[in-house]
Amino acid sequence: MSSGSRVPMSAETAAFLRREQRLFIGGERVAARDGGRIEVLNPATGGPLAQVSAAGAADIDAAVAAARAAFSNGPWPAMGPSARGQLLWRLADLLEAHAPTLTELEILDNGMPLDPAGMLAVPTAVKILRYFSGWPSKLGGQTLPADRRPGAASPALTYTRREPVGVVGQIIPWNYPLAMAAMKLAPALATGCTVVLKPDEKTPLSALFLIDLLVEAGVPPGVVNIVPGFGETAGAAIAAHPGIDKVAFTGSGEVGRKIVAAATGNLKRVSLELGGKNPFIVFADADLDRAIEAATRSAFFLQGQNCQCASRLFVHEAVAAPFTAGLAAAAQALPLGPGWDPRTRIGPLISAGQLERVAGYVELGRKEGARLVTGGGPRPGPGYFLPPTVFADIQPGMAIAREEIFGPVTGIQTFGDRDLDGLAAQANDSEYGLVASVWTRDLGTAHRFAEALRAGVVGINHHGGGDIHAPFGGYRQSGWGREFGAENLDLYLETKTVVVRYD
Ligand code: NAI
Ligand code: MG
Repeated sequence: MSSGSRVPMSAETAAFLRREQRLFIGGERVAARDGGRIEVLNPATGGPLAQVSAAGAADIDAAVAAARAAFSNGPWPAMGPSARGQLLWRLADLLEAHAPTLTELEILDNGMPLDPAGMLAVPTAVKILRYFSGWPSKLGGQTLPADRRPGAASPALTYTRREPVGVVGQIIPWNYPLAMAAMKLAPALATGCTVVLKPDEKTPLSALFLIDLLVEAGVPPGVVNIVPGFGETAGAAIAAHPGIDKVAFTGSGEVGRKIVAAATGNLKRVSLELGGKNPFIVFADADLDRAIEAATRSAFFLQGQNCQCASRLFVHEAVAAPFTAGLAAAAQALPLGPGWDPRTRIGPLISAGQLERVAGYVELGRKEGARLVTGGGPRPGPGYFLPPTVFADIQPGMAIAREEIFGPVTGIQTFGDRDLDGLAAQANDSEYGLVASVWTRDLGTAHRFAEALRAGVVGINHHGGGDIHAPFGGYRQSGWGREFGAENLDLYLETKTVVVRYD
């Protein structure tokens, strides 16, 4: 492991971490009513990072009341679409102005290395806000033909309006905290909703830093309420709350099911992004160097704690040996260390619990008879480190080939020409259907698989979601609904039909 046990940070970051971190409700910073607190840890050291108020059910009630008041009265519903767009653009400018601090907070809170934090996480959040800032002025409805019956009293004109769904609860995970917050807030604000946002208890800091920026951008009080808290308390209160019209969730399938069940009380709308077990199919004619480079980048991005990661590698037997050797060599070349060390490519996992879970899958893979090519068990602490790990000789029935590991662990299974007819079905044989990719130089093969693979995103010589301009989401148990792109707005809009009689 590389050196760097001293945690370097800027004066702005240090000052932020010294502040008392309260909830943000109705434009005020308030302590949790029951005095609840979260101790936020630095995953690279296991040491304490900050103390944060933990919202309880009464705080969620207050946040929902503030969001309802801001939705119904005051400046927000009166604000025109251009002003709402400008507000999102201003927020993007402010994120950019504070990018160094936000980068440090993501590194300290989540553990991600400097490169994704500074080069991807913060710029992606900025880009999301800018993309959605253009939408408020384009949320038009339709004028529809009406049948007029001569002499009969009948409508002469029908048109539709797109209206905000109302008060939205948003529950986000720890793996990509700032980008997740932007991904949830931007479409909700673009459509005119108001928000109760619950960051993950393990990574609330970048969302808490946003509070100052929301105020400075001019977001009216109550429009965005930020309520860090534990899932079983604050999260469950949001999912069940009768005053919330829609809940948007990213996280585990287990909690996704709980949210669906809790949402039945008032039949609130639900959208879910629940992870994947993503096939990455390498044909014999593929550009192997590119495929190896992409598999490495994707499988180990955010320490493999990302829903898009290439976690089921199907490799043609003719190229399996060089592919496996190339991936193993690339994995071994990724230095482990704290995110703030610029040499680091693999940071710590998010928590002791996640390290234990991922290490458990590595053990299980060995027991199931997969061949460990590189990597393996956890590194001695401090911090929650596990090296990039590659298994070969995976069989489709193994748990490590079926379950989302959410760590730097991937596995290779081989196929031959005799398997080609059943290959898409084999890749589709998963409870998930988020991302898939095919690696080939043959156009027919590429597009045949793009059609046959049942996943929300299919890459051709590329793995992972496209730009944020394109919809992203899952088939099957990977979720409900699409984020990014114009389709994202549908999650936050109702359609009203207006029927007009002239006489
Ligand atoms: P989780 O699903 O428990 O946590 C995600 C969010 O849900 C957090 O904000 C948490 O506070 C909240 N939450 C937890 N219990 C809740 C409840 N009963 N009601 C409402 N909200 C609740 O995920 P966890 O435990 O951190 O990770 C477990 C696994 O979930 C990972 O190993 C991974 O497989 C998957 N996961 C997938 C993510 C994705 O991007 N799709 C993100 C995070 C986790
Ligand atoms: Mg959980």
